[in-house]
Amino acid sequence: MAALTNPVHESGALPRSDLQRRARRVAGTVLGRPTPMIEPGVEEYAERHTSRESADLVAVADDTRRLTDQSYMMSGAPQAHFLATLVRLGQSRNVLEIGTFTGYAALAMAAELPADGRITTCELSTRHAAIAAVHFAASPYAPRIDLRVGPALPAIEALPGPFDLVFIDADKGGYLGYLEAVLPKLAPHGVIAVDNTLHNGLTPRDEIDRAMLRDLHTFNAAVEQDPRIDQVVLTVRDGLTLIRHAR
Ligand SMILES: C[S@@+](CC[C@H](N)C(=O)[O-])C[C@H]1O[C@@H](n2cnc3c(N)ncnc32)[C@H](O)[C@@H]1O
Repeated sequence: MAALTNPVHESGALPRSDLQRRARRVAGTVLGRPTPMIEPGVEEYAERHTSRESADLVAVADDTRRLTDQSYMMSGAPQAHFLATLVRLGQSRNVLEIGTFTGYAALAMAAELPADGRITTCELSTRHAAIAAVHFAASPYAPRIDLRVGPALPAIEALPGPFDLVFIDADKGGYLGYLEAVLPKLAPHGVIAVDNTLHNGLTPRDEIDRAMLRDLHTFNAAVEQDPRIDQVVLTVRDGLTLIRHAR
């Protein structure tokens, strides 16, 4: 099995240069989507042993692949399941997502809310929002989902909070602004999950990645220095940072 032959498992942390070589070796095998930070076989194994997606989520994923050429932007099934688990663990009633895309993660989180709970999800692209809206309407969770179409920042400013969970997953250059906008509205026990914080295993494949990584390094460095918050950077998929109020 892949895990047994993986030197990371055999000998602890690899030197940085080996990690970079390793990341480069797998980079390009899945162009257009993030390169997994762990062996693809391990990622597939984890996915196979994670609870199955609901029929609603399978329908969103199928439509996203059929109607867009950007299905790599969807949260994968394990990450969406992880977010849904956070909703349940935090007994969340008020969730905010910044960057809906076609609605995969929003629908996964909505399913875990109580009947009177709410997820507000913000999407700039009318095309992406239109796909999401169809799936939200077809699901049993439509009454819990508030889809805001347009730039996220003014939408967030108009929302009172407090948010139990916030998922930041839109334009990377906007991340710091989103953090500033949501932090004062985060419930005392609330969590902010931020996607792509280790984008492509920190290995750029092209100029777009390079620009994204510059924005993400700026964000990660600012978070690290911020005394208001406490954070953990998880090596889940493309990097997922969990942020909460400092104690
Ligand atoms: C990575 S995708 C989101 C994926 C989604 N959260 C999921 O897990 O399936 C990022 C989305 O953010 C949207 N976006 C980019 N800039 C935005 C902005 N300023 N306001 C709102 N949405 C934005 C993009 O159109 C895109 O659909």
